[in-house]
Amino acid sequence: MRVLVTGGAGYIGTHTLLRLLEAEHEVLVYDNFSNSSPEALRRVRTLSNRDFESREGDIRDVGAMNSVIGDFRPEAVVHFAGLKAVGESQEKPLEYYSQNFGGSVTLLDAMQRHGCNRIVFSSSATVYGEAQYLPFDEDHPRAPTNPYGRTKAMVEDIIRDWTTSRPQASAVLLRYFNPVGAHSSGRIGEDPSDIPNNLMPFVAQVAVGRRPEVSIFGNDYETRDGTGERDYIHVEDLAAAHLAALDYSARGTGTEAINVGTGRGTTVLEMIAAFSRAAGRDIPYRIAPPRPGDVARSLAAVTRAERLLGWTAQHGIDEICASTWAWQVANPRGYAD
Ligand code: NAD
Ligand code: WQD
Repeated sequence: MRVLVTGGAGYIGTHTLLRLLEAEHEVLVYDNFSNSSPEALRRVRTLSNRDFESREGDIRDVGAMNSVIGDFRPEAVVHFAGLKAVGESQEKPLEYYSQNFGGSVTLLDAMQRHGCNRIVFSSSATVYGEAQYLPFDEDHPRAPTNPYGRTKAMVEDIIRDWTTSRPQASAVLLRYFNPVGAHSSGRIGEDPSDIPNNLMPFVAQVAVGRRPEVSIFGNDYETRDGTGERDYIHVEDLAAAHLAALDYSARGTGTEAINVGTGRGTTVLEMIAAFSRAAGRDIPYRIAPPRPGDVARSLAAVTRAERLLGWTAQHGIDEICASTWAWQVANPRGYAD
């Protein structure tokens, strides 16, 4: 199958590309490299021993989007491209609405013009906001608490309206929980360009000596040990979920939202302990004030993914930490190495 992968040079995109290539799909990557490096795609080519086309461009560029889709004629699109930092979205909301919302509309319009009717979209558990109950199932009310989350909820709605208007169209909205980990080769992984916002890359950079200590944002939450609890999902499991979602989208029409998580939680202290075991060294930390907007716990209900996609997560927290450590040690400065 011909699959257009927007944002395919990014963290989740590269891992998914490898799976698509292994499954013998024909892919084209469209990315503006605003948060990634062409080196990541070179490594995917080497690892997979397969070549594929990549084009540099912005999803908001109407002309470029139409020529990519018109030339390549994808049967499906996996849509990763967009901005993803919660804090930055509060400082630059218009940038987030322009790229995530505007870019998605431009993409869907180009798909419609060229008769492409299938999309798998990178949504996020952040669309749920504060938990009314846990675990979050897909029917939990959506109430995102920041502009980033609102762009994801808006794009979900646009895609749903689009499939409603086109009886032949089908879409899967994958709501990722906390993606972490790296490819088993140690050659591709998460490469934050700045100080990491997320726990896992921060812990990895402390372990490798790039930063002195982890700040634990609050230890007075209602959790096992007082620190925030999250549902961490290995990026290789996440990549597999995209292939299952593509298969699923071929079997029906309409839009389905599906959580991608494990259903199991890990606290910040448990994560630091697991990473410390994987790295074989102590990871210094200190308790810092809670981060505004953080919730105590976030956990996925995973039955819909099991039922509809036939997919469940295979990797636990120890494999997540081991793979992240292997990537971090081999590439202490990410793709710049
Ligand atoms: P990433 O930043 O590594 O990848 C995104 C890719 O899109 C990058 O290669 C970037 O250069 C590209 N891009 C950004 N804006 C673009 C634009 N306007 N035009 C073309 N390309 C553009 O992020 P990721 O972690 O791989 O996330 C992929 C998707 O998954 C994003 O949509 C993100 O919101 C979503 N998501 C991520 C997480 C997470 O924690 N990583 C969680 C939930 C959802
Ligand atoms: C995890 C836990 C922190 C950093 C974010 C986005 C979400 C999704 C995934 C895109 C929390 C604690 C963190 C640190 C810490 N992304 N922490 N010290 O906030 O659950 O989710 O990424 O869609 O939208 O909000 O992930 O990794 O930032 O935090 O103590 O230096 O680690 O308080 O309890 P989060 P995270």
